[in-house]
Amino acid sequence: MSTVRLLLSCLLLKEVVALSGNFWHITDLHWDPTYNLTDNPELVCASSGTRPAASAGKFGDYACDSPWLLINSSVYAMKDILPDPDFILWTGDDTPHVPNEDLGEEAVLHIISSLTHIINQVFPNTKVYPALGNHDYHPKSQLPAGPNYIYNQTAEMWQGWLDPESRGTFKKGGYYTEKLLNRTGFRMLVLNTNLYYDQNKATQDMDDPAGQFSWADQVLTEAANNKEKVYIIGHVPPGFFEKKRNKPWFMPSFNKLYLDLIQKHHSVILGQFFGHHHTDSFRMFYNSEGSPISTMFLSPGVTPWKTSLPGVVDGANNPGIRVFEYDTQTLLVKDVVTHYLNLTRANAARGRWEKEYRLTESFRVPDASPASMHQALERIASSRCYLQKYYEFNSVSYDLTECNSDCRVDHVCAAREVDFDRYEHCLEKEGAAAIYGGFLPVLSMAVSLAFANW
Ligand SMILES: *[C@@H]1O[C@H](CO)[C@@H](O)[C@H](O)[C@H]1NC(C)=O
Ligand SMILES: *[C@@H]1O[C@H](CO)[C@@H](O)[C@H](O)[C@H]1NC(C)=O
Ligand SMILES: *[C@@H]1O[C@H](CO)[C@@H](O)[C@H](O)[C@H]1NC(C)=O
Ligand SMILES: *[C@@H]1O[C@H](CO)[C@@H](O)[C@H](O)[C@H]1NC(C)=O
Ligand SMILES: *[C@@H]1O[C@H](CO)[C@@H](O)[C@H](O)[C@H]1NC(C)=O
Ligand SMILES: [Zn+2]
Ligand SMILES: [Zn+2]
Repeated sequence: MSTVRLLLSCLLLKEVVALSGNFWHITDLHWDPTYNLTDNPELVCASSGTRPAASAGKFGDYACDSPWLLINSSVYAMKDILPDPDFILWTGDDTPHVPNEDLGEEAVLHIISSLTHIINQVFPNTKVYPALGNHDYHPKSQLPAGPNYIYNQTAEMWQGWLDPESRGTFKKGGYYTEKLLNRTGFRMLVLNTNLYYDQNKATQDMDDPAGQFSWADQVLTEAANNKEKVYIIGHVPPGFFEKKRNKPWFMPSFNKLYLDLIQKHHSVILGQFFGHHHTDSFRMFYNSEGSPISTMFLSPGVTPWKTSLPGVVDGANNPGIRVFEYDTQTLLVKDVVTHYLNLTRANAARGRWEKEYRLTESFRVPDASPASMHQALERIASSRCYLQKYYEFNSVSYDLTECNSDCRVDHVCAAREVDFDRYEHCLEKEGAAAIYGGFLPVLSMAVSLAFANW
């Protein structure tokens, strides 16, 4: 090969490589400092409440929040799998699920600080975008719409990560925006959606807590004017929990305002990354013509804690961490790779973190764009094979039981409809479809042609 051609192909290669980047998203670490292996399963961890931690091992128990060893293991697994990400998204919920009386402002701050410290220690040169979760406050979920001690203290803890202006807005409302990696044309918008949580009594009667909606509207309007691409991150997502029918998190008016915000500004929003569910799912946003315009990725939690939400059957999960691959020029999300720890195996025999799945392989889509995620959702809705795959990933390969027709309706409608009324209609429509065997006959015919192995 001539020197010129060699040089040319190297240049081309470099360009191709430079277009692709990746970042970590971790969420819901929920460290339980009381975790302690004892002979009495009821005394292993405070976060199990009255439930026994029946299979407690050094990496944890499905009834408990994370022991330190699991936290440590997950952060070092990140370092092992992808040591030099472009940045890290960390969407909150650091403290254990225990009564308020068992924590306090200082206990909450101590836990946030310990997690900040280990992430900093393992990734000293990586930009981290942290967001607060509803458990990162005392009393839990009561995050205020104005300045307070906890916003103040966390802003200080995170001063190595946040720009000075970010610290300013964070201290006032727990939110901030800055250029993504300081690059012109790219922006990160970090929201404090805990202000919209229906458990939050501090913001219940407000129209726009901490002025966050009008601020975000302004940020996104300016982003459009400046031809920027934006990622949005936050903790509590709008829409419904897919593991329990009719279970939303936002107050109705805030849910509507959030949807309006995305519909108005979707052309600059290239991805939304949230947590809080502890499960692996996603939410679609459509325009009034029904075209997919945005996706919210709900990443699985590190804590395996079995939710105590009444009506959820066996709502635990394996610990999960996730890499997003993206186009550094357009911010298009190209792929999602989830890694997990099989907790049972880890406790029994020094289990390792392993790759769970790659989105484009498992759902046979070209990338993770809204159009592709819509395609994936339609496959999940119309094929038992894809539904079952999605369902097992939903609990990070913890619950391997069959997703029946009710289960299908819950998951499909939660992913498809963030709007409260439209979700209701979806339940009716898909529920009616369920009567005919769970899958619309025409669709299942098409699908059975494509996939002989149901
Ligand atoms: C853990 O339990 C043992 C008894 O089994 C006790 O001696 C020890 O103090 C406990 N440690 C913590 C951190 O609670
Ligand atoms: C954390 O994990 C690393 C890597 O596996 C290990 O070297 C270190 O000893 C662990 N630290 C604690 C406190 O468990
Ligand atoms: C927050 O910190 C500022 C100084 O940065 C201080 O003036 C203010 O009193 C603090 N507020 C609370 C509630 O701690
Ligand atoms: C970001 O870029 C501006 C101007 O390009 C520069 O002055 C500033 O120091 C940079 N900040 C960081 C944190 O790199
Ligand atoms: C997790 O490990 C347990 C125990 O080894 C095993 O029974 C189970 O099938 C594993 N789960 C997955 C998804 O591999
Ligand atoms: Zn959580
Ligand atoms: Zn939460």
